[in-house]
Amino acid sequence: MVKRGVWAAIAAAGLIIPLIGASQEFGEYLGLDTCADCHADVAESYGATPHANSLEVLEAAGSASDPECLACHTTGLEDSKYVDGAVTCEACHGPGSGHVVAGEIEAIKSEIGEADCLKCHTAEWSPDFDYETYRAKGVHGGG
Ligand code: HEC
Ligand code: HEC
Ligand code: HEC
Ligand code: HEC
Repeated sequence: MVKRGVWAAIAAAGLIIPLIGASQEFGEYLGLDTCADCHADVAESYGATPHANSLEVLEAAGSASDPECLACHTTGLEDSKYVDGAVTCEACHGPGSGHVVAGEIEAIKSEIGEADCLKCHTAEWSPDFDYETYRAKGVHGGG
């Protein structure tokens, strides 16, 4: 884990932006691999949650190119293209470019609750949804 101060210094020196591409706007999705660069423990723990297989579930159902289905089963969907073929970090935490490119830690959503899950866990698609039960197996650990 990169420490707050060190990371802020790197960001302030503008060393992160060239790695990602200076053209990134601050509301953009960067993808799981970028998050994993600095949050390796969280990413590993995330990988064991059902969300990591959400595109495979669609493939098995023969609907992996249906934009209506992809909307909840992928991350950063735009014009039928997605940034990550799974429900990844930014599906819950929101686009990460402000956090990473601008180097502002607070620019990422860190308080996540039931309402965020219900965007996808609708009555139609997730009739058995119960926040406490689902949170226990659907959210990473790893701090
Ligand atoms: C260049 C390193 C770096 C990258 C890349 C990065 N983070 Fe972070 N992130 C940090 C640091 C440092 C902190 C502050 C220490 C901590 O809370 O772990 C942090 C904190 C956070 C927090 C807590 C914020 C708070 O207010 O406490 C969240 C949530 C987060 N990151 C999510 C993400 C997501 C999602 C991505 C991918 C889009 C990402 N991070 C990419 C370095 C990074
Ligand atoms: C509004 C968001 C949303 C949309 C749109 C959506 N899904 Fe899902 N889907 C979910 C959620 C959330 C779950 C997990 C439900 C649960 O286990 O409680 C799920 C689960 C599934 C499962 C079952 C996975 C399993 O573990 O058995 C399949 C299959 C599936 N979706 C296919 C589709 C298909 C095909 C479409 C398009 C017609 C679609 N989904 C559209 C949110 C959505
Ligand atoms: C962007 C859409 C999206 C968001 C936001 C989302 N999920 Fe999911 N979730 C899914 C989809 C799609 C599946 C089905 C994928 C699979 O089972 O592989 C799923 C599956 C799950 C499962 C597995 C259910 C089962 O039957 O085993 C759990 C648990 C879960 N989500 C918890 C949560 C929690 C808790 C939150 C909020 C903190 C959340 N999810 C937010 C889309 C989402
Ligand atoms: C299904 C939704 C969901 C996904 C996907 C998700 N997170 Fe989280 N994340 C949460 C929730 C919920 C919390 C706890 C927030 C709270 O306690 O208020 C959290 C907390 C965090 C924190 C704060 C540290 C802590 O443990 O308190 C960081 C950093 C973080 N997530 C990074 C990530 C990264 C990186 C990924 C992708 C590898 C990711 N998250 C994927 C829901 C999610």
